[in-house]
Amino acid sequence: MIQINENYLKLQSSYLFSDIAKRVAAFAASNPDRQIIRLGIGDVTRALPGACIAALHEAVDELSADSTFRGYGPEQGYEFLREAIAHNDFQALGADIRPDEVFVSDGAKCDTGNILDILSSNLKIAVPDPVYPVYVDTNVMTGRTGGWNGGRYEGLVYLEATEANGFVPAIPDEAVDLIYLCFPNNPTGTTATRGQLAAWVAYARENKALILYDAAYVAFIRDDSLPKSIYEIEGARDVAIEFRSFSKTAGFTGTRCAYTIVPKSCAGYDSEGSAHPLHSLWNRRHTTKFNGVSYPVQRAAEAVYSAEGKKQVRQLTDYYLENASLILEKMRGLGYACAGGENSPYIWVNTRTDSWEFFDLLLNEAAVVCTPGSGFGACGRGYIRLSAFNQYEQVEVAMDRIAEAVRR
Ligand code: MLT
Repeated sequence: MIQINENYLKLQSSYLFSDIAKRVAAFAASNPDRQIIRLGIGDVTRALPGACIAALHEAVDELSADSTFRGYGPEQGYEFLREAIAHNDFQALGADIRPDEVFVSDGAKCDTGNILDILSSNLKIAVPDPVYPVYVDTNVMTGRTGGWNGGRYEGLVYLEATEANGFVPAIPDEAVDLIYLCFPNNPTGTTATRGQLAAWVAYARENKALILYDAAYVAFIRDDSLPKSIYEIEGARDVAIEFRSFSKTAGFTGTRCAYTIVPKSCAGYDSEGSAHPLHSLWNRRHTTKFNGVSYPVQRAAEAVYSAEGKKQVRQLTDYYLENASLILEKMRGLGYACAGGENSPYIWVNTRTDSWEFFDLLLNEAAVVCTPGSGFGACGRGYIRLSAFNQYEQVEVAMDRIAEAVRR
């Protein structure tokens, strides 16, 4: 008899964004004339940068001739991309990351889930609350939590991010083994200072813990005093893995390209307490279960680092940041306390009511889609997340409609 992985039965009905999609589809079916504006899931709407498109075309042409055709590439990514990443995203910031510590993949979401393959199932795990649901669900799926109880999973340590701490969770009083951090944060849009990250690194070193640092939204940081990589903090190389993505940086949500940094000095321990480099474990996992990102897509990602590409990526992210400041200004103007929206494409709004109720109000009265904060955890109750990924004109219309709906 085939038996299932019963951990899946502990999961809450469906993934947050599928849940929202279902409600929106039902609304669209019964309101065919309403034009829906989506500020829910953080999916980009603007075309790929011209430099990436040119590189894509060129690489596709290479595949059309036997003499330049390429089959399997290196699972970890082509050297040209790993070098561009190490140089531009880390060494240029003074962070000592080498090309062979870069693992190119098809998504930061997949990697944050897959990384659990190389870690013990017997860990004390700390997740932020509110949290990007993937961190929690992948731990549930792999049997690292207990059951769902009162809005949380048993066995996890929840790091609360609230108005009181500026939505940057404090370091726990107890020792944990694995810590998820995400800055600029999804969903709150808040950022961490160098000092705050340094405190986490010191904590991880003291407890021989590992930090999983998700920096998928780093391209939106404009404040130069904020750290862009955890490896800007001394000692982080030994205790942190960083996840990055071209999705939000350069509009690759459909194209798929991301990368994970596993420094060679980052260690995990066996049951006897002996240290092992996580780099070799991840390399083993990656080369066994993954066959690499397609050549044209890696060439397109490489183009992000060309002079032209850098300029275009900046324009693209500036565009979304302009949307974010419009949303922030309008929601504050309506009297709502907000976080994020600066150095981030997400705006975290305190609705002073139930999250799903406010979601329904915006959907039914304004035909605007947001993400209910309670879907990100108990600390998200009463909040919604608005995403700045849309056309500016659409955001303007959405904000007018929201103003009308909430004043009614
Ligand atoms: C989000 O809306 O939180 C993101 O689009 C989800 C993701 O990047 O997987």
